[in-house]
Amino acid sequence: MTELDWSKLTFSYTKTNTILISHFDGSKWSEVESNSDDYIRLSAFAGALHYSIECFEGLKAFRGKDGKVRLFRPEENAKRLQRSAKYLGIEAPSTEMFIQMCERSVRENIEFLPPYGSRASLYLRPTLIGSNPQLGVQSSKESTFILLCSPVGAYTGGVLEAIDVVIARNYDRAAPNGTGAFKVGGNYGASLASLNKAHELGFKAVLYLDPATKKYIDEFNSSNFFAIKGNTYITPLSTTILPSITNMSLEVAAADLGMEVERRPVPVEELPTFDEVGECGTAVVITPVHKLVDKPSLESEEETVYTYGDGLCGEKSLQLFNYITDIQYGVREDKFGWTREVEI
Ligand SMILES: Cc1ncc(COP(=O)(O)O)c(C=O)c1O
Repeated sequence: MTELDWSKLTFSYTKTNTILISHFDGSKWSEVESNSDDYIRLSAFAGALHYSIECFEGLKAFRGKDGKVRLFRPEENAKRLQRSAKYLGIEAPSTEMFIQMCERSVRENIEFLPPYGSRASLYLRPTLIGSNPQLGVQSSKESTFILLCSPVGAYTGGVLEAIDVVIARNYDRAAPNGTGAFKVGGNYGASLASLNKAHELGFKAVLYLDPATKKYIDEFNSSNFFAIKGNTYITPLSTTILPSITNMSLEVAAADLGMEVERRPVPVEELPTFDEVGECGTAVVITPVHKLVDKPSLESEEETVYTYGDGLCGEKSLQLFNYITDIQYGVREDKFGWTREVEI
């Protein structure tokens, strides 16, 4: 049995029982291997290591109030991985294979699934890499699909603690017609210079503007942007942001709670008109933003500061957070069929 203190978990790696691996050899997927060692054997010439031929997913398993174990919308993650793989030109697992491996990973690591009430969960990290030896820049013929998992708590330390973020006008995470809408590892490497700088300045996250015109809000380094104005949920429409499954669910939740929902370009000038602003994503569903600082460059002293709320979560954001997490933990009726029960 694991001796983890669930209340102390953050978003960091914990060694679990097994990782699952399947290899596509150019024509078929191998039988899934389950390894207790989380080091993998890989050619040093693998395309993933040289040309970022890599994409991944992030989803969670939750222990419900009724003791049942649920995954949240895993078929959406499977589809998004298939989109990312298609962009990279590599083979992806079918939706059925993806979900079966997620479920098996949960079963083999069930002692790492935090109990109901801890607000923690088991994070699954399906990872797909181009794995055959190659020198030229080309899509890999062989790919390797790996299912990793790790118990996690709140991403930033405290659930629903408001954070300060900064707009990085002199950095982009993705090019105008590039990879922004795909969950490829390269996007995250590209965000590190600005993220490290933002951390040095005391900010928890970076908010990027649309890379083509710098007039509109795009998204954060690892989450989507949303705002609340009156009774309206507003979130950016952009071709350079990741289609977040949490955001998609929040739009439905907001409508179900009687709110208006707008997905449209969000000009920077609109920032002072919002009542609540937040990040959304699988890691914590919603992280409220307290101060949003707009700097002409991260190296500049000049800044415009927008402040939302008093450091706690706004009322509408909290309602939305509860709506989604109550479904994830089996407390609220899952009327849209978002969860998938895992037989243990
Ligand atoms: C860049 C980026 N945007 C948005 C999200 C949120 O997506 P999802 O809600 O599917 O987790 C993520 C990942 O969590 C991300 O890395």
